[in-house]
Amino acid sequence: MKKIIFFLLLLSNQIYSQELYKEKYRPQFHFSPAKNWMNDPNGLVYFNGEYHLFYQSNPFGNQWGHMSWSHSISKDLLHWQQLPVALKEENGIMMFSGSAVMDEKNTSGFGKNAMVAIYTGHTDTLQTQNIAYSNDAGRTFTKFNNNPVLNLRQKDFRDPNVFWYEKNNDWIMCVSHPNEHQIEFYQSKELKDWKSLSVFGPVGDTSGVWECPDLMQVSIEGTKEKKWVLFTSQNSTMQYFVGEFDGTRFINENPTNKIFKQDYGTDYYAAVAYHNTPYKNPISIGWLNNWNYANDIPTTPWKSVMSLPRELSLKKINGEWILIQTVLQNIKTLRSSAKSFSNKIVSKQSPVNFKGNVFEAEILFQPSAKGESGIKLAVGNNHYLKISYDALNQRMIVDRSQTNSSFNKTFASINKAISKIQLPDGKLKWHIYFDKSIVEIFVNDGEAVFTTQVFAEENENSVQLFSTKGKSKFEYVNIWNIKSIW
Ligand code: FRU
Repeated sequence: MKKIIFFLLLLSNQIYSQELYKEKYRPQFHFSPAKNWMNDPNGLVYFNGEYHLFYQSNPFGNQWGHMSWSHSISKDLLHWQQLPVALKEENGIMMFSGSAVMDEKNTSGFGKNAMVAIYTGHTDTLQTQNIAYSNDAGRTFTKFNNNPVLNLRQKDFRDPNVFWYEKNNDWIMCVSHPNEHQIEFYQSKELKDWKSLSVFGPVGDTSGVWECPDLMQVSIEGTKEKKWVLFTSQNSTMQYFVGEFDGTRFINENPTNKIFKQDYGTDYYAAVAYHNTPYKNPISIGWLNNWNYANDIPTTPWKSVMSLPRELSLKKINGEWILIQTVLQNIKTLRSSAKSFSNKIVSKQSPVNFKGNVFEAEILFQPSAKGESGIKLAVGNNHYLKISYDALNQRMIVDRSQTNSSFNKTFASINKAISKIQLPDGKLKWHIYFDKSIVEIFVNDGEAVFTTQVFAEENENSVQLFSTKGKSKFEYVNIWNIKSIW
């Protein structure tokens, strides 16, 4: 009897897990929670071969609320295992965004190799910075009994991001004053007592409240040198500043009359990075949604997806520091069957002999100088997502106005992402990751990225090349089906 019950349990478990991650719109190679609401990535930290991904979640439903830190781990940043909720809302105090560090030197006295989470405690009238520690590699946490560790008695003061500053042997926290468009830097020897160092901003994009700062060292391609990069999130997009951090203040070296965006798409926000991994550079993960409609996207029983992890580096282009983002190479292990062709001249429309909504595509082409050219994905039922180069205006456009947007008016109105892109040698390279309801497009080896959500029916899965005026030459098009990680 026991055996039969065990077998039935196993079977029902399997059926359950088979249904999960097979739902309509469910990405197959991006992280999304099995169920319930998710927003910002929190506490990205690497320890003992495990990448920890904590994230803002509502353990009780599929809408924002009861903010807690849920927890997943990965050994390769590709396959994820979900663990129980790590830090819960308690006594009416929500767990807002923050970071986590490994306290290798036991500066805090919480124990050698304690994992310390630094988060914002949120109520309707007050936001403070708090800490919690784990002595079992993030499986269980204890909230510090002398919380908060930083309290300015302000309603908006949030998203602490902490790292170890080797030169001065101390911890640095960057934390946001959202309404002032400022990031304040603090210093501590033991993660408990924090002293203000300096304030950065307002500068750059101040069109929305500043949230989720992250400061890190990033290497300059082709050299042994590094620069400091400061990220902020505002108005449903992200910006970065590049310069120096001297232990006290951050000095921006990029022009201040220009906004440098980490992603030009409609759905990329609150990204933070792993600072201490075996990789040479920080690895960044962003939340692929947009506060203007995040609660209304038509997915169930979960909401929101994380970006593919992106390795960051820097390049100087025309006197400006440009962030380069590349997807980790191990994603190639998920490639299955391929479709390739080369040197194809396209005028008007040209169907591609491939159907799918979970794939990776690499394209190098010479856009016609006379009009708009590119690729349409998720084609069917008079719907499509259009990725194009508008040569007359030297800009790239990701246009989802012809996709299903019936579920939300704001989603329908925020339907294009546009950015200037120069083509030094007349060619454009796209690396496209299409994953059911997520499209990430890396331009010219990661010099720009566009990320967008799209909610297409299963049979809207054709692909077309096009060139509205004149001929465009597609030097190569390589498409791979991608295996599911679930
Ligand atoms: C950013 C944000 C953070 C805040 C969290 C709350 O998306 O608004 O500033 O800590 O989400 O869930």
